[in-house]
Order: sequence, then C-alpha cells, then structure tokens
Amino acid sequence: MSLVITDIGQLVTNDETRNGLLGVVEDAAVAIDAGTIGWVGARDDLPAEYRSYEMLSVGGSAVLPGFVDSHTHAVFAGDRSHEFAMRLAGATYEELQGAGGGIYSTVRATRGATLDELVHASLPRITRMFTNGTTTIEVKTGYGLDIATEVKMLDAIDEICNVLPIDTIPTFLGAHVVGPEFTEDRGSYVDLVAGDMMDAVAERVAFVDVFCDEAAFTVDETRWIAEAARSRDLGVRLHVEQLGHTGGAALAASIGAVSADHLDHATDEDLDALVRAGTVAVLLPGVSYSMREPAPDGRRFWDAGVTVAIATDCNPGTAYIETMPFIISLAALTSGLTPAEAVWSATRGGALALGLHDRAVLAPGMLADLVILDAPTYEHLTYRPDGGLVTQVIKRGIAV
Ligand code: NIG
Ligand code: FE
Repeated sequence: MSLVITDIGQLVTNDETRNGLLGVVEDAAVAIDAGTIGWVGARDDLPAEYRSYEMLSVGGSAVLPGFVDSHTHAVFAGDRSHEFAMRLAGATYEELQGAGGGIYSTVRATRGATLDELVHASLPRITRMFTNGTTTIEVKTGYGLDIATEVKMLDAIDEICNVLPIDTIPTFLGAHVVGPEFTEDRGSYVDLVAGDMMDAVAERVAFVDVFCDEAAFTVDETRWIAEAARSRDLGVRLHVEQLGHTGGAALAASIGAVSADHLDHATDEDLDALVRAGTVAVLLPGVSYSMREPAPDGRRFWDAGVTVAIATDCNPGTAYIETMPFIISLAALTSGLTPAEAVWSATRGGALALGLHDRAVLAPGMLADLVILDAPTYEHLTYRPDGGLVTQVIKRGIAV
C-alpha cells in the first residue's frame, strides 16, 4: 500500500543524520511504499513521484516512530488484584511469593487455562497496548515452568500475532522462578530449563531470559542457563539487580547479553561494564511506581553512556501497566530523562534492546511503523501523563 502522511507539525525520525537526538523535522511529510518508508522530509519538498499517492493529512500533529515495548509478561491468566491490595497494606513482594502467591499464583492460573482462555485473557491487554502506539512488543513466557505450559504460552503469542497487526518477539523465561515441583531440588529445575525445556522452545524464540535475583536464580545458575542459550544460537536478555545487588549486571556484560533489565541496584562499575559490552539497559520505571519504590535513575545511565531503553514490564504482579506513553511520562517525571531521551528510549532504545535494526528510525528502507498524536509536539507525551494522545497507529504502512 502506498500512502503519504502530510501536514505533520513535528516529525520525530530518530535519524542520526538529522538534527539532535530525535532528528526532528518540522512541517514534514513521510511517503510509505509497501510497508516501508520511501521518503522523509519537509512537506514542500515531497518528490513528484509521490504526489499521486493517497494523502493522509494529520493537521499539524506530531508523528513518531511506533513504540517498541522491549520487556513484557503480557500473556498470563488469572487475577492478582487482591495481592496488590495486600501490598498496599504492607505485605512485601517476597512474602507474597513465599506464601505461594506472586508468580506462583499466575503459574497456577496459566497452567489451568486452555489455550483459548489464555488468548482471551491476553488479547484485550495487547490490543490496548497496540492502540496506545506499541507496534512491536516483546512477550516473555515464564508462567508455565513446565514444558507443556511454556509451549502453550508461545502458542498464545502466535495466535495473538495472527489477529493483531503487532510484531511480537517471544522470549523464553523458563527461569522465572524455580518450578513449584522442584523447590527441594532446584538443580534439577535448572537442568530442565537449560536442557529439555529449552530444546522444546528453541526454534520459536529469539531470546532466553533469566530472573537473576535474590528471590529467583543465582548468578551461577544464570550463567549456566545463558551458556545453554548461546550453544543454541539464542540471544540472552536478563532480569538483574531488581530486588538487590547480586552481580547479574556484571554477568550480563561479561557474556555480551543483548540487554540487562531492571538494574535498580546497579553500581557505577556495572554501568561501565554495560557500556563496554554494548549491552542495552532496559529501565522499567512503571515497576518502581507500582511497587512504591524509588525510580531507576535514568539520568545516571544516560550520562554514563549506556544505551537506554524503557519498557512497561506489563505483568500481573509488579507493574500492570499497558501503555508506553505512561512509561515515557514516568521516565521523564521520575527517572530524570529529558522528554527527548524518554521518547528515544521508548522507540530506538527499545528496538536496540531487541537487536532490531529495521525499525524505530523514520528513514528510507525502514519499517513504516508510526504513531500519530493528538498533540503538536512529542513533549506532550511527558507533559500529559494520563494518556489518550495516540490517535492513530500505522503498522507496516497500514493505517489501523
Ligand atoms: O519483571 N522480575 C520478575 N518478573 C516480573 C514480575 C512477574 C510477576 O510478579 O508476575 C518483573 O517484575
Ligand atoms: Fe520482567
């Protein structure tokens, strides 16, 4: 499909060959050819060959690359709103998990759901993510913790991908917590994850993730699982330094993980190691907000030269948050990023955290994934945190 989006008041391109971090073009137009960008520039300079295309005038609105939500657990069954209320009344996340709640409660519900039920529980959520501008979403498994349910989660991700025009990047998180059958024999669970379970999913995922933290897996267990991933040519992304400092960030850097996520307790040495390794830091300010904890200091990461992404971490326990505009606002209001840095981290940063180089830059040849705001500048995304500013999503050139 060919389309020209015109009368764009402010176009965020993320194109390094243009001005500033966001490569903003004022009074712009974008020409789209069969799902990819054909041309970008000032509206008056639109080449003659594009003038016969269908025109979509956006009346002075801001247009940005589609958001890349690079860390989610958005496929799950069950309901943990009662746990949230218990946390507000003083229970800790670790206490709830120790009592068989937390992740284990979602595991029971996800195991008990049929594929159809799992799709029906997750599809409305991911639809809201999409209509709020997320055009690429990473989704982790990790609420199965047995082979059949981990595979069922991948089947659910596939079914959702078939009905929604969103790109999904599945990640295997068998090492979310130790499977409930193995709490007395965690070594066997680690062997299962690094062996038969990984074999059962390896063809269907790009990444393997491990929750490396005090309440989950040790650095040694994480290294073992990461090595199993590397031997199957899978990329590694890790949950690290969320609840305390255990050395996971240094491990992520030392094995060349594509991303290290959370990082609330990362040290300055950890940041240096991430820079040297080229590992992207995925910061999750919605988790801190929902857990009523101090937000990750995005300023510190940015100033240290770390490549920063921000994501929702949408999950039923620590951040039931669906929209990237809210995260962009939190990143600016609580994590010390400028509005431009927050927007970059939600688009280009997210793509880099998933090793994707074909999107989140509006330049010829890149995927035509765009969002149109009901606002004249991208700053409105930080200035107006309660959302609703995304009026239209263009996915691979199709206006949805
Ligand atoms: O990213 N850290 C581990 N996993 C999720 C929480 C999952 C849950 O509570 O269901 C997170 O915070
Ligand atoms: Fe997570």
